[in-house]
Amino acid sequence: MILFNLKKNYAMLSGRFLLTCLVFVSFTHLQAQGDLPSDFLSKEFHKERREQLRRKLPKNSVAVFFANPVRNRANDVDFIYHQDPNFYYLTGYKEPDAVLLIFKDNQTAANSKTYNEIIFVQPRDAMREMWTGRRLGDKGVMDQLGFEQSFNNGEFKKYNVDFSKFDQVLFYDFFNDTRDNPADSSDLYNLIEQFKVKVNYPSKDQLTVSREQRKNNLNMTGLDGYMRELRGVKTEEELEFIRKAVLVSCQGQIEVMKALKPGMSEREIQGIHEFVFKKYQAEDVGYPSIVGAGHNGCILHYIENYKPEVSSKELILMDLGAEYRGYTADITRTIPVSGKFSADQKAIYDIVLNAQEAAMKKAKPGVSFAELNQITKQVVNKGLKDLGIIKSENENHLYYPHGCCHHIGLDVHDKGMRDALQENMTFTIEPGIYIPENSDCDPRWWGISVRIEDDFRITKNGNEHLSSYAPRTTDDIEATMKLPSPLDNFVLPELKGKK
Ligand code: GLY
Ligand code: MN
Ligand code: MN
Repeated sequence: MILFNLKKNYAMLSGRFLLTCLVFVSFTHLQAQGDLPSDFLSKEFHKERREQLRRKLPKNSVAVFFANPVRNRANDVDFIYHQDPNFYYLTGYKEPDAVLLIFKDNQTAANSKTYNEIIFVQPRDAMREMWTGRRLGDKGVMDQLGFEQSFNNGEFKKYNVDFSKFDQVLFYDFFNDTRDNPADSSDLYNLIEQFKVKVNYPSKDQLTVSREQRKNNLNMTGLDGYMRELRGVKTEEELEFIRKAVLVSCQGQIEVMKALKPGMSEREIQGIHEFVFKKYQAEDVGYPSIVGAGHNGCILHYIENYKPEVSSKELILMDLGAEYRGYTADITRTIPVSGKFSADQKAIYDIVLNAQEAAMKKAKPGVSFAELNQITKQVVNKGLKDLGIIKSENENHLYYPHGCCHHIGLDVHDKGMRDALQENMTFTIEPGIYIPENSDCDPRWWGISVRIEDDFRITKNGNEHLSSYAPRTTDDIEATMKLPSPLDNFVLPELKGKK
């Protein structure tokens, strides 16, 4: 890491005009074809999505979207930037400090040109791009993302939009969690502040009363319903990425099954998965990887993955999803570290498997997540009762404390309607049983936790099991764990430090 705080030193550097010019000239050479993947969503996709949203918007309205904030990790290091999925879906823009306006009706500019959308983006800046990466700039956004109108974000403040003339100005309300970078007067913080002035954003007290009572045209709740309807049903282009993310994630599960040995650390297992994802060109994980051995598997979103050595008595629960061009898989496999399920582990495993199978049989257009959830709960409760872990099938318990299903897409818990599945919705079925230490049952069950999570697409009459490639029955998992692994001969030298 080069110790140079760009934010603080930028002003000092800006006088170095000649150097800037030289950097700019050489930087443009860096943007060669092949330096970036070429299989992102097409500009036509994003344009069509904006058109679909425009159709849904109420009459005489405008929808306003802001890019995600940059998040600080510590001191002068930020987390890797991730665009807000709504913003990405509608634009394809992957940079911060941007705002998008989508108008229901055509607007007329001062030069009499008509337009129905505008995007404001961060400007090209040779010095900053040298430190923090390429920027599209206003022209790049028009060339590469297909916008007819684009401006640098510095123009937003004085850009003349009379928001008072609209019946509704729709936007997601702000979380007040955006930092102001003092070196940038048009960063997201400023864009939001400028927008608030433009729309006469209510004071804190006014915010507690309803929109009707406030008698203004700001609608901070309506947009989400439209985005759920749109994003919940995937297009062919999106499905291609989801299939790829799922396939890569299945391969990750298979490679770990082959490579796993007692004594490995949870982190090492996580590393194998993530290496496999990246080997197949996935850019990242879609959510923090969960690799929990034994009791750690009982923590639903266990992301520390800190256990130094997994033991042959334990199950290991691995909930992992590659993100491919923004779209994430979400797949969980639970496997025995020894390569063979004990009788008790298998008994719990098969209840979860049966619960999943029962929901898989029912998932088709018109069915709700609530119905699928209920089916899985019934099977789990019956199974737990048969094993004597609960006393009655109606007993309230915490052995299966979560729902069975959610949409997947640009978010791991993606936007979508939950009341009636439709063709080309993509979602998980993920029942689980978790029996932590000191549970009110025979201690022989303590420390057994099983989740089985697969990804599906709703078809015309049923569903397509997207993640069927990852072994799922105890027999298939045990057989896979016997296969040789390319990592069997991957032995690193003992760390000795300096000679
Ligand atoms: N990986 C998070 C979930 O399964 O919902
Ligand atoms: Mn999930
Ligand atoms: Mn998951």
